[in-house]
Amino acid sequence: MSQMSRGELPHSTFLTKKEWRSIELWLYTMEKYGHYSDDRLARKAKKKMGLSYDVLGHGSFRVVFDLNNDYVLKVVTRRMGFISNEIEMDLFRECPKHLRNYLCPVYEFGHGWIIMRKMIRTVSMEERDHRKKLVKLEDDFLKEGIHPGDLNEENLALSRTGKLVVIDYGHFSKADFWW
Ligand SMILES: Nc1ncnc2c1ncn2[C@@H]1O[C@H](COP(=O)(O)OP(=O)(O)OP(=O)(O)O)[C@@H](O)[C@H]1O
Ligand SMILES: [Mg+2]
Repeated sequence: MSQMSRGELPHSTFLTKKEWRSIELWLYTMEKYGHYSDDRLARKAKKKMGLSYDVLGHGSFRVVFDLNNDYVLKVVTRRMGFISNEIEMDLFRECPKHLRNYLCPVYEFGHGWIIMRKMIRTVSMEERDHRKKLVKLEDDFLKEGIHPGDLNEENLALSRTGKLVVIDYGHFSKADFWW
């Protein structure tokens, strides 16, 4: 996993210099649109950035592009998104290996963006098997002192081998607030 920060010369395996600049420009102007609905904000972000990728989805804080080749690009649309990106990058890099298997892999990140593996299959919590897997996942994180926040269907996917994978772990936190 490689890191790029503001001020460094743009160099990314996934993004061109032009794309990198478009993202930076968006980040400088996004505050203007803070009052938009999530949906409208994601559309505005796509239009302003002018990237050639399709939008795969969005939440409240990031818009997610399909990089056409097994990867997704998540770009911040609200300030909280910077924190989500940082948490995902830190957690994926630093958590114990048995927990990392639950996390959608991070490949690269920079100021306001992060690149992850694209997951195809969505999860329905109607299925008993998925609910059981989710309980085990939550237990495993809590045992390591990590509170797995916001584990709803939209933030979960299934890997090709049927493993439950978290695609949005930006709301995970150290569980010390329990004390
Ligand atoms: N790795 C991925 N593979 C496929 N689709 C993804 C992936 N990551 C995100 N998505 C899609 O994009 C949507 C938004 O992504 P994500 O949940 O990370 O954004 P967010 O703004 O952080 O969300 P929230 O409002 O829950 O904090 C997801 O619900 C999902 O539909
Ligand atoms: Mg989400």
